[in-house]
Amino acid sequence: MGLSVIILAAGQGTRMRSALPKVLQPLAGRPLLDHVLTVFRDVGASDIAVVYGHGGDAVKAACDGPDIRWVLQAEQLGTGHAALQGAPDVPDDNRLVCTFGDMPLLRASTLRSLIDQVGDDELGVLTGHLDDPFGMGRIVRDDSGNVIASVEEKDANDAQRAIQEINSGVIIGPGKRFKAWLNALTNDNAQNEYYLTDLIGMAVNDGVTVRGIMTDDAVEVMGINDKKQLAEAERALQARRVDELLAQGVGFADPARVDIRGELRCGTDVYIDVNAVFEGNVTLGDRVHIGPNNLVRDSHLGDDTVLHSNCHVEGAHTGDACEIGPYARLRPGAELANNVKVGNFVEIKKSTVADGSKVNHLTYIGDAKIGTDVNVGAGTITCNYDGANKHQTVIGDGVFVGSGVNLVAPVEVGAGATVGAGSTITKPVEADQLVLERSKQKSVPGWKRPTKKT
Ligand code: UD1
Ligand code: CA
Repeated sequence: MGLSVIILAAGQGTRMRSALPKVLQPLAGRPLLDHVLTVFRDVGASDIAVVYGHGGDAVKAACDGPDIRWVLQAEQLGTGHAALQGAPDVPDDNRLVCTFGDMPLLRASTLRSLIDQVGDDELGVLTGHLDDPFGMGRIVRDDSGNVIASVEEKDANDAQRAIQEINSGVIIGPGKRFKAWLNALTNDNAQNEYYLTDLIGMAVNDGVTVRGIMTDDAVEVMGINDKKQLAEAERALQARRVDELLAQGVGFADPARVDIRGELRCGTDVYIDVNAVFEGNVTLGDRVHIGPNNLVRDSHLGDDTVLHSNCHVEGAHTGDACEIGPYARLRPGAELANNVKVGNFVEIKKSTVADGSKVNHLTYIGDAKIGTDVNVGAGTITCNYDGANKHQTVIGDGVFVGSGVNLVAPVEVGAGATVGAGSTITKPVEADQLVLERSKQKSVPGWKRPTKKT
């Protein structure tokens, strides 16, 4: 039996007080809606409809995929009305799940168990227990514990308001009947809205069993309405990620002071100090050590590599046993081989640095190819840009570049050459030679330093 899902995402999200539609607010670096889509793809939903309204074009642009049907709800008349917009194209023989675009912490395993525990002909609702259920729909059960209704805060009586079991918003049922119930909804309630939750009463009336399946982790059913809840959800999701990594043996100085906005994969005995931020796809080899205050985005650090404090690493790839920082910047296309050292205030962009080479202080390396065992002195700059085009610098194996050298590209320094400090190199340097480009030092005898007029 196929699985269809309708994700409701047409609400304005006014409480976010943001120009960005609610479902595009970022959680761990990805739109809320994207988290929801991932979970449904993980359980194998074959037909995904997203009901959009507010900020539709931006939502489509950010989250589009070949498996998504986009359905407009021009006027927001309630969750039931929203679900109805996506219903006509749902195959009768499929099971249908409705869920909310603002519920990003739901786990695929929880959804899977809801799908498995509810029979093909039954209606199922995912519920949670909240200490403070204010504002949520309350799950009403009969004396035998069967779910008979979900009542909105504004429609509830005092006894119902005291109920702490809440409706998450995730509801599953047989496609054909689900569609018939949606078509029969009315808006006869305190908010004059078409409530998706009224399906529960309809199913009961039709003699269909309704199962309320409760999650043990209330955070999963958290709906995100404002920035405070968004921040809470961010911490909850980060804690979940760090727990997974701790279980895999990754060490953290403080599990609460790390942020993973993407995919982080680690080898054995990796250690991560405080305030590390990982974005995009990051892989760390065995025994990698991440010092405090580092940003690492879309990069790979090889085994035994040490990233000292305060570095910015993006689109970089290192081999084994490299040492980077403190205060280094690796930009896209920085490719370091093994045992490479990159020190403080060094920027490397679109360049390869071969085994054992050192670029230790205050240097810019851009569009360069550096051989093995090269030493680049402090304050050396590859002048790679002529104002219109970028040019390459090639430095052969075993070259020693003194301090304060300008390498005006395109230029090539032959293997084993030595470039004297302060030189501006504009012509090819032959292998194994000393090259110097420097004006003669002058002394002016008897010169007096000016003094301030009184
Ligand atoms: C809803 C549920 C409530 C549940 C709670 C869980 C109903 C009637 N109420 O209440 O039982 O406890 O969520 O968080 O179902 N939406 C549309 N079109 C609309 C209205 C809403 O697409 O016309 C979307 C919103 O974008 C949002 C979701 O549906 O993603 C839920 O809407 P919201 O207004 O937040 O419902 P709640 O009042 O929180
Ligand atoms: Ca909500």
